[in-house]
Amino acid sequence: MLQTGKENKLNFPNPGLGLGLRNKHFDFILKNNPAVDWFEIISENFMDSGGRPSHILSQIAERYPLVMHGVSLSVGSTDPINFNYLAKLKKLAASIKPLWVSDHLCWTGVNNLNSHDLLPVPLNEESLKHICERINIIQDYMERPLVFENPSTYLSFVNSTIPEYEFLSLMSKETGCGLLLDVNNVYVSAFNNDFDAVKYIQHLPHKNIVQMHIAGHQHCGDYIIDTHDQKVVAEVWKLFNLAWKLTGGVATLLEWDNHIPDFESYHAELLKAKKYMHELDVISDETQTLSKTEESVSTPVNFLMPQLSNELNELSS
Ligand SMILES: [Fe+2]
Repeated sequence: MLQTGKENKLNFPNPGLGLGLRNKHFDFILKNNPAVDWFEIISENFMDSGGRPSHILSQIAERYPLVMHGVSLSVGSTDPINFNYLAKLKKLAASIKPLWVSDHLCWTGVNNLNSHDLLPVPLNEESLKHICERINIIQDYMERPLVFENPSTYLSFVNSTIPEYEFLSLMSKETGCGLLLDVNNVYVSAFNNDFDAVKYIQHLPHKNIVQMHIAGHQHCGDYIIDTHDQKVVAEVWKLFNLAWKLTGGVATLLEWDNHIPDFESYHAELLKAKKYMHELDVISDETQTLSKTEESVSTPVNFLMPQLSNELNELSS
Protein backbone atom coordinates (compact mmCIF):
# COMPACT_ATOMS: atom_id res chain seq x y z
CA MET A 1 0.00 0.00 0.00
CA LEU A 2 1.31 3.42 -0.91
CA GLN A 3 1.74 5.96 1.80
CA THR A 4 1.67 9.66 1.10
CA GLY A 5 2.43 12.64 3.24
CA LYS A 6 -0.78 14.49 2.53
CA GLU A 7 -4.35 13.67 3.35
CA ASN A 8 -7.21 14.64 1.13
CA LYS A 9 -9.87 16.88 2.55
CA LEU A 10 -12.40 14.08 2.96
CA ASN A 11 -9.90 11.88 4.80
CA PHE A 12 -10.51 9.11 2.30
CA PRO A 13 -7.67 6.57 2.39
CA ASN A 14 -5.15 6.01 -0.35
CA PRO A 15 -5.38 2.25 -0.97
CA GLY A 16 -2.74 2.41 -3.72
CA LEU A 17 -2.93 1.22 -7.32
CA GLY A 18 -6.16 -0.42 -8.45
CA LEU A 19 -7.68 -2.19 -11.43
CA GLY A 20 -11.18 -2.32 -12.85
CA LEU A 21 -12.91 -5.59 -11.98
CA ARG A 22 -13.82 -7.25 -15.28
CA ASN A 23 -15.77 -10.48 -15.90
CA LYS A 24 -13.01 -12.13 -17.89
CA HIS A 25 -10.63 -11.87 -14.91
CA PHE A 26 -12.99 -13.27 -12.23
CA ASP A 27 -11.59 -16.80 -12.28
CA PHE A 28 -7.95 -15.65 -12.37
CA ILE A 29 -8.45 -13.35 -9.38
CA LEU A 30 -10.26 -15.92 -7.26
CA LYS A 31 -7.71 -18.60 -8.05
CA ASN A 32 -4.50 -16.55 -7.76
CA ASN A 33 -5.24 -13.70 -5.35
CA PRO A 34 -3.04 -11.29 -7.35
CA ALA A 35 -1.27 -8.54 -5.42
CA VAL A 36 -3.54 -5.71 -6.54
CA ASP A 37 -4.16 -3.01 -3.95
CA TRP A 38 -7.87 -2.58 -4.73
CA PHE A 39 -10.56 -3.02 -7.39
CA GLU A 40 -13.12 -0.64 -8.85
CA ILE A 41 -16.46 -2.10 -9.93
CA ILE A 42 -19.02 -0.62 -12.30
CA SER A 43 -21.95 -0.27 -9.93
CA GLU A 44 -24.63 -0.96 -12.54
CA ASN A 45 -23.08 -4.32 -13.44
CA PHE A 46 -23.89 -5.62 -9.97
CA MET A 47 -26.97 -3.65 -8.86
CA ASP A 48 -29.55 -5.94 -10.43
CA SER A 49 -27.55 -9.13 -10.57
CA GLY A 50 -27.83 -11.96 -8.14
CA GLY A 51 -26.41 -15.39 -8.73
CA ARG A 52 -22.83 -15.92 -9.82
CA PRO A 53 -21.75 -12.25 -10.29
CA SER A 54 -23.05 -11.38 -6.84
CA HIS A 55 -21.42 -14.45 -5.29
CA ILE A 56 -18.08 -13.64 -6.94
CA LEU A 57 -18.28 -10.00 -5.91
CA SER A 58 -18.85 -10.92 -2.28
CA GLN A 59 -15.78 -13.18 -2.35
CA ILE A 60 -13.64 -10.43 -3.89
CA ALA A 61 -15.02 -7.92 -1.37
CA GLU A 62 -13.72 -10.15 1.42
CA ARG A 63 -10.20 -10.09 -0.05
CA TYR A 64 -9.76 -6.59 -1.52
CA PRO A 65 -10.85 -3.00 -0.87
CA LEU A 66 -13.49 -1.97 -3.42
CA VAL A 67 -14.67 1.29 -4.91
CA MET A 68 -18.04 1.66 -6.65
CA HIS A 69 -17.99 3.61 -9.92
CA GLY A 70 -21.34 4.39 -11.57
CA VAL A 71 -22.45 5.59 -14.99
CA SER A 72 -26.17 6.27 -14.48
CA LEU A 73 -26.53 8.85 -11.72
CA SER A 74 -27.17 11.56 -14.35
CA VAL A 75 -26.47 14.34 -11.91
CA GLY A 76 -26.63 16.99 -14.66
CA SER A 77 -30.08 16.01 -15.96
CA THR A 78 -33.26 18.03 -15.42
CA ASP A 79 -35.23 14.84 -14.84
CA PRO A 80 -36.25 14.20 -11.24
CA ILE A 81 -33.61 12.35 -9.22
CA ASN A 82 -34.11 8.62 -9.69
CA PHE A 83 -34.58 7.31 -6.16
CA ASN A 84 -35.19 3.77 -7.40
CA TYR A 85 -31.68 3.83 -8.81
CA LEU A 86 -30.31 5.39 -5.63
CA ALA A 87 -31.98 2.75 -3.49
CA LYS A 88 -30.21 0.01 -5.46
CA LEU A 89 -26.93 1.90 -5.28
CA LYS A 90 -27.26 2.29 -1.53
CA LYS A 91 -28.15 -1.36 -1.08
CA LEU A 92 -25.09 -2.46 -3.04
CA ALA A 93 -22.89 -0.10 -1.02
CA ALA A 94 -24.29 -1.52 2.22
CA SER A 95 -23.44 -5.00 1.05
CA ILE A 96 -19.85 -4.56 -0.20
CA LYS A 97 -18.82 -1.54 1.89
CA PRO A 98 -16.82 0.34 -0.75
CA LEU A 99 -14.19 2.91 0.19
CA TRP A 100 -16.28 5.43 -1.76
CA VAL A 101 -18.95 5.72 -4.46
CA SER A 102 -18.26 7.72 -7.61
CA ASP A 103 -19.98 8.82 -10.82
CA HIS A 104 -19.45 11.50 -13.47
CA LEU A 105 -20.13 15.18 -13.98
CA CYS A 106 -22.54 14.53 -16.84
CA TRP A 107 -26.10 13.70 -17.73
CA THR A 108 -27.24 10.49 -19.37
CA GLY A 109 -30.79 11.30 -20.43
CA VAL A 110 -33.86 13.47 -20.02
CA ASN A 111 -37.64 13.04 -20.09
CA ASN A 112 -37.20 9.41 -19.08
CA LEU A 113 -35.07 8.66 -22.14
CA ASN A 114 -31.68 7.13 -21.40
CA SER A 115 -28.93 7.83 -23.95
CA HIS A 116 -26.59 5.36 -22.25
CA ASP A 117 -23.83 7.87 -22.77
CA LEU A 118 -21.99 10.29 -20.51
CA LEU A 119 -23.12 13.60 -22.00
CA PRO A 120 -21.41 16.93 -21.23
CA VAL A 121 -23.16 19.69 -19.32
CA PRO A 122 -23.01 23.43 -20.00
CA LEU A 123 -20.78 24.95 -17.35
CA ASN A 124 -22.33 28.14 -15.96
CA GLU A 125 -23.89 29.55 -12.78
CA GLU A 126 -27.30 28.05 -13.53
CA SER A 127 -26.02 24.51 -14.09
CA LEU A 128 -23.71 24.78 -11.09
CA LYS A 129 -26.62 25.66 -8.81
CA HIS A 130 -28.77 22.89 -10.31
CA ILE A 131 -26.08 20.24 -9.97
CA CYS A 132 -25.04 21.26 -6.45
CA GLU A 133 -28.66 21.05 -5.28
CA ARG A 134 -28.92 17.56 -6.71
CA ILE A 135 -25.60 16.43 -5.23
CA ASN A 136 -26.68 17.64 -1.79
CA ILE A 137 -29.94 15.67 -2.02
CA ILE A 138 -28.16 12.57 -3.33
CA GLN A 139 -25.46 12.70 -0.66
CA ASP A 140 -28.06 13.13 2.08
CA TYR A 141 -29.93 10.09 0.79
CA MET A 142 -26.77 8.03 0.41
CA GLU A 143 -25.52 9.19 3.81
CA ARG A 144 -22.01 9.66 2.44
CA PRO A 145 -20.08 12.15 0.32
CA LEU A 146 -19.90 11.08 -3.30
CA VAL A 147 -16.99 11.47 -5.70
CA PHE A 148 -17.41 12.97 -9.19
CA GLU A 149 -15.23 12.47 -12.25
CA ASN A 150 -14.39 14.96 -14.99
CA PRO A 151 -15.83 13.54 -18.25
CA SER A 152 -14.25 13.18 -21.67
CA THR A 153 -15.86 15.74 -23.93
CA TYR A 154 -16.01 16.24 -27.67
CA LEU A 155 -17.71 19.63 -27.76
CA SER A 156 -18.20 22.67 -25.58
CA PHE A 157 -21.28 24.86 -25.20
CA VAL A 158 -21.52 28.53 -26.22
CA ASN A 159 -23.30 29.22 -22.92
CA SER A 160 -20.51 27.73 -20.80
CA THR A 161 -18.96 30.56 -18.82
CA ILE A 162 -16.95 28.67 -16.18
CA PRO A 163 -13.84 26.61 -16.96
CA GLU A 164 -14.38 22.96 -16.05
CA TYR A 165 -11.62 22.94 -13.43
CA GLU A 166 -13.28 25.91 -11.70
CA PHE A 167 -16.74 24.33 -11.99
CA LEU A 168 -15.45 21.16 -10.29
CA SER A 169 -13.75 23.25 -7.63
CA LEU A 170 -16.91 25.23 -6.86
CA MET A 171 -19.00 22.05 -6.94
CA SER A 172 -16.74 20.33 -4.46
CA LYS A 173 -16.57 23.40 -2.21
CA GLU A 174 -20.34 23.84 -2.23
CA THR A 175 -21.33 20.22 -1.60
CA GLY A 176 -18.33 18.61 0.08
CA CYS A 177 -18.13 15.99 -2.65
CA GLY A 178 -14.80 14.48 -3.62
CA LEU A 179 -13.25 14.62 -7.07
CA LEU A 180 -12.02 11.82 -9.29
CA LEU A 181 -9.43 13.27 -11.64
CA ASP A 182 -9.34 11.26 -14.86
CA VAL A 183 -6.02 12.39 -16.29
CA ASN A 184 -6.71 10.76 -19.66
CA ASN A 185 -10.07 12.55 -19.87
CA VAL A 186 -8.29 15.86 -19.28
CA TYR A 187 -5.91 15.04 -22.13
CA VAL A 188 -8.74 13.96 -24.46
CA SER A 189 -10.98 16.94 -23.64
CA ALA A 190 -8.09 19.40 -23.85
CA PHE A 191 -7.21 18.19 -27.35
CA ASN A 192 -10.82 18.09 -28.56
CA ASN A 193 -11.76 21.47 -27.09
CA ASP A 194 -8.41 23.22 -27.43
CA PHE A 195 -7.58 24.04 -23.82
CA ASP A 196 -4.40 23.65 -21.78
CA ALA A 197 -4.35 20.32 -19.90
CA VAL A 198 -1.50 21.39 -17.60
CA LYS A 199 -3.30 24.58 -16.58
CA TYR A 200 -6.48 22.54 -15.98
CA ILE A 201 -4.69 20.19 -13.56
CA GLN A 202 -2.77 22.99 -11.87
CA HIS A 203 -5.99 24.86 -11.08
CA LEU A 204 -7.96 21.99 -9.57
CA PRO A 205 -8.52 21.90 -5.77
CA HIS A 206 -5.91 19.20 -5.15
CA LYS A 207 -6.96 18.37 -1.60
CA ASN A 208 -10.45 17.50 -2.83
CA ILE A 209 -9.10 14.89 -5.26
CA VAL A 210 -9.46 11.43 -3.77
CA GLN A 211 -8.80 9.28 -6.82
CA MET A 212 -7.25 9.35 -10.28
CA HIS A 213 -8.02 7.40 -13.46
CA ILE A 214 -5.52 6.72 -16.19
CA ALA A 215 -6.43 5.05 -19.49
CA GLY A 216 -5.61 4.65 -23.16
CA HIS A 217 -7.38 6.38 -26.02
CA GLN A 218 -7.49 6.50 -29.81
CA HIS A 219 -5.99 9.48 -31.58
CA CYS A 220 -7.86 10.01 -34.82
CA GLY A 221 -5.95 13.01 -36.13
CA ASP A 222 -8.37 15.90 -35.67
CA TYR A 223 -9.91 14.46 -32.54
CA ILE A 224 -9.31 11.88 -29.80
CA ILE A 225 -11.81 9.24 -28.68
CA ASP A 226 -11.74 8.01 -25.09
CA THR A 227 -11.72 4.31 -25.93
CA HIS A 228 -10.06 2.69 -22.88
CA ASP A 229 -8.72 0.00 -25.21
CA GLN A 230 -4.94 0.30 -25.12
CA LYS A 231 -1.89 1.38 -23.14
CA VAL A 232 -1.51 4.81 -21.59
CA VAL A 233 0.34 7.27 -23.86
CA ALA A 234 3.44 9.16 -22.70
CA GLU A 235 1.66 12.53 -22.61
CA VAL A 236 -0.94 11.14 -20.21
CA TRP A 237 1.78 9.65 -18.00
CA LYS A 238 3.34 13.13 -17.88
CA LEU A 239 0.05 14.63 -16.75
CA PHE A 240 -0.27 11.82 -14.19
CA ASN A 241 3.19 12.72 -12.88
CA LEU A 242 2.09 16.35 -12.50
CA ALA A 243 -1.18 15.39 -10.80
CA TRP A 244 0.62 12.97 -8.47
CA LYS A 245 2.94 15.73 -7.30
CA LEU A 246 0.16 18.29 -6.85
CA THR A 247 -2.17 15.94 -4.95
CA GLY A 248 0.58 14.34 -2.89
CA GLY A 249 -0.53 10.98 -4.30
CA VAL A 250 -4.03 9.52 -4.33
CA ALA A 251 -5.62 6.17 -5.17
CA THR A 252 -5.00 5.53 -8.86
CA LEU A 253 -6.81 3.18 -11.22
CA LEU A 254 -6.09 2.06 -14.79
CA GLU A 255 -9.28 1.81 -16.84
CA TRP A 256 -9.35 -0.78 -19.63
CA ASP A 257 -12.80 -1.58 -20.98
CA ASN A 258 -12.41 -2.76 -24.56
CA HIS A 259 -9.95 -5.27 -26.04
CA ILE A 260 -9.15 -6.13 -22.42
CA PRO A 261 -5.82 -7.99 -22.13
CA ASP A 262 -5.09 -10.91 -19.84
CA PHE A 263 -4.94 -10.02 -16.18
CA GLU A 264 -1.15 -10.00 -15.87
CA SER A 265 -0.68 -7.64 -18.84
CA TYR A 266 -3.35 -5.33 -17.44
CA HIS A 267 -1.66 -5.34 -14.04
CA ALA A 268 1.78 -4.74 -15.57
CA GLU A 269 0.53 -1.61 -17.33
CA LEU A 270 -0.90 -0.33 -14.04
CA LEU A 271 2.38 -0.88 -12.20
CA LYS A 272 4.17 1.52 -14.56
CA ALA A 273 2.51 4.20 -12.45
CA LYS A 274 5.02 3.43 -9.69
CA LYS A 275 7.91 4.82 -11.71
CA TYR A 276 5.94 7.57 -13.41
CA MET A 277 4.92 8.99 -10.04
CA HIS A 278 8.41 10.33 -9.59
CA GLU A 279 10.38 10.09 -12.82
CA LEU A 280 9.64 11.90 -16.02
CA ASP A 281 12.76 10.99 -18.00
CA VAL A 282 11.84 7.29 -18.20
CA ILE A 283 8.54 7.92 -19.90
CA SER A 284 8.43 6.71 -23.47
CA ASP A 285 5.46 6.21 -25.71
CA GLU A 286 5.01 2.47 -26.25
CA THR A 287 1.50 2.67 -27.58
CA GLN A 288 0.57 2.03 -31.15
CA THR A 289 -2.15 4.37 -32.25
CA LEU A 290 -4.79 2.39 -34.08
CA SER A 291 -5.68 3.21 -37.63
CA LYS A 292 -8.59 5.60 -38.15
CA THR A 293 -10.22 2.92 -40.24
CA GLU A 294 -10.48 0.58 -37.25
CA GLU A 295 -13.66 0.68 -35.27
CA SER A 296 -13.74 3.61 -32.87
CA VAL A 297 -16.43 3.76 -30.23
CA SER A 298 -17.18 7.07 -28.59
CA THR A 299 -19.40 6.00 -25.75
CA PRO A 300 -17.62 4.89 -22.59
CA VAL A 301 -20.85 3.34 -21.36
CA ASN A 302 -20.54 0.85 -24.22
CA PHE A 303 -17.36 -0.45 -22.68
CA LEU A 304 -18.63 -0.39 -19.16
CA MET A 305 -21.91 -2.11 -19.84
CA PRO A 306 -21.28 -4.37 -22.85
CA GLN A 307 -24.47 -6.36 -22.36
CA LEU A 308 -26.48 -3.16 -22.62
CA SER A 309 -24.64 -2.13 -25.78
CA ASN A 310 -25.44 -5.45 -27.38
CA GLU A 311 -29.10 -4.99 -26.59
CA LEU A 312 -29.08 -1.50 -28.10
CA ASN A 313 -27.33 -2.75 -31.23
CA GLU A 314 -29.96 -5.45 -31.62
CA LEU A 315 -32.73 -2.91 -31.22
CA SER A 316 -31.25 -0.59 -33.83
CA SER A 317 -30.51 -3.33 -36.39
FE1 LIG B 1 -12.44 7.58 -16.03
